[in-house]
Amino acid sequence: MSNKEKPMLELVDVSKSFGDVEVLKNISASVPKGELLTFVGPSGCGKTTLLRIIGGFTAISSGQVILDGEDIGALPPNMRDTKMVFQSYALFPHMNVRKNIGFGLKLQKMPKAKIDDRVDELLALVHMDGLGERTIERISGGQQQRVALARSLALEPKVLLLDEPLSNLDANLRVVMREEIRSIQERIGITTIFVTHDQYEAMSISDRILVLNDGIIQQIGTPTDIYETPKNKFIAEFVGYVNFLEGKIESFDQDSELYSVSTEHGNVSLNRTNNKDLAVADEIYLVIRPETVMIFSSDSEDLPNMLTGEIQDSMYAGNLVKYTIRCGDREILIDQYNPKDSIKFKRGDKIKFTVPKSVHALPKKG
Ligand SMILES: Nc1ncnc2c1ncn2[C@@H]1O[C@H](COP(=O)(O)OP(=O)(O)OP(=O)(O)O)[C@@H](O)[C@H]1O
Ligand SMILES: [Mg+2]
Repeated sequence: MSNKEKPMLELVDVSKSFGDVEVLKNISASVPKGELLTFVGPSGCGKTTLLRIIGGFTAISSGQVILDGEDIGALPPNMRDTKMVFQSYALFPHMNVRKNIGFGLKLQKMPKAKIDDRVDELLALVHMDGLGERTIERISGGQQQRVALARSLALEPKVLLLDEPLSNLDANLRVVMREEIRSIQERIGITTIFVTHDQYEAMSISDRILVLNDGIIQQIGTPTDIYETPKNKFIAEFVGYVNFLEGKIESFDQDSELYSVSTEHGNVSLNRTNNKDLAVADEIYLVIRPETVMIFSSDSEDLPNMLTGEIQDSMYAGNLVKYTIRCGDREILIDQYNPKDSIKFKRGDKIKFTVPKSVHALPKKG
């Protein structure tokens, strides 16, 4: 295996129980050098526990944590080439910014002049030049976040572990800081594991996302994989809004590579690319994202993949109209963008709508 292919971090069958509660069950994943991998999942699913296991703050029940080829499972945190930024930052409030950032270097007995140079570099990296002499109490929440990041980077860890690093910040600052973290991470090429509750945060900064629930990895993949081809209903609903419409696969056409699906509201063709696991006669759910649907009036000409419904509700939101469409006993939510250029439908209007051939589907069972 060449160096490039060797993962920086490997989790091999990692399990963790607290008493008789098994929180993590045989988690295996491998993280290439330089990747930003995000853990997402509902509260209590074990994200922090898995991060603490990697950092050495929580003992593993069974399995292995391999860092750059070395099993580090038995090492204490300070003997690992990992650095964790806790949600609370854990900065020293009465010390100034420089001393906080240089703290670990001082413990390592690095000469003072070298520490000063390194701290200057780090201050510049996190856009805090000129604020080195301020105490932590006299800088803002966003700046504290930067100091915590700089302090963790000071010792040049092989893996950076960030547990909900932005949760103390207000919404606008969160967006600024997440972009900054991503840009710093890419610039120095550090392998990073990031934990968040925020699906949009995960989608926008990650190379890959690991979705955790019920103690297992539900799916690991790029943001596009997770959003466009979720492996189950849980994942589909976890990221963004999604509609499920029941159908049945009637046939498959080899030439066009299209499945023909019947629903109570019309027939649709699905391409195989997004649906490799399906087979003829499967009962399925079409996984329809609100922004992928187009609405037409009931007297417009029939197009492929057109289904019928009735407008139940509409909500104007400036850049889009959100329609609720009744389809039998289901409601489908649709976002129609550029409402200025399209017909506005009202409650009770019979309509047709198209779903794309690239629509993803999930088998009802399994
Ligand atoms: N030291 C502990 N002793 C006993 N149970 C624990 C301990 N730490 C965590 N747990 C339990 O393990 C489960 C996973 O906790 P964890 O903190 O990893 O979840 P999380 O995904 O980080 O949640 P959140 O999103 O709320 O931060 C929870 O049910 C929690 O109560
Ligand atoms: Mg947590």
